[in-house]
Amino acid sequence: MTSDDASPGHDDRTAVDPGPADVPAPDLPELQPHQVFDRVGGLPAFEALVESFYARVEQDELLRPMYPEDLEPGKRHLTLFLAQYWGGGNLYGDERGHPRLRMRHAPFPITPEAALHWAENMAAAIGEQDFPPEVDALLLGYVGRATPTLINQLPDEVRTLPERGAR
Ligand code: HEM
Repeated sequence: MTSDDASPGHDDRTAVDPGPADVPAPDLPELQPHQVFDRVGGLPAFEALVESFYARVEQDELLRPMYPEDLEPGKRHLTLFLAQYWGGGNLYGDERGHPRLRMRHAPFPITPEAALHWAENMAAAIGEQDFPPEVDALLLGYVGRATPTLINQLPDEVRTLPERGAR
């Protein structure tokens, strides 16, 4: 998967490594990524998820300054993107075109720490939703894979050469 890919189905997300035979398989019903949208009840579930996520972003001292004053347009775009990604049809594409997420995130200084904040806020928002466990598992797996792909900057201390000591 690349971060620009808003259509599940051709990556290894559903590949299952059976693991050692004596380890019991997780007892979750099989759910395909494109079935998530219907399984959670459609768009309102994604609206609620993104509301909860943005409420956390508003309180996040590292992330909040990256976001514009008016959070509403971004909320809508993220809602449509996630709904599309999880099987809701071309909702984001109809309004915004191709996601090109790395390009759209280029203006923001996304350090590993910022990415971690984003992922923690999203994981907490997912946890608040009362989704079925098989949905939680898919969403959290996606957050874990997608978020690091948007890192585009290392922290200042890494980008600055340390003082050279006298030889
Ligand atoms: C890694 C940490 C991330 C940071 C710091 C971050 C930050 C941002 C910011 C500041 C915006 C602009 C919001 C606005 O203009 O109102 C944005 C937009 C967006 N982000 Fe992220 N983001 C991150 C990760 C992600 C991830 C993992 C996804 C995908 C699940 C994502 C999906 C989006 C979408 C769909 C938009 C709207 C794009 C558009 O249509 O303009 N972001 N993000």
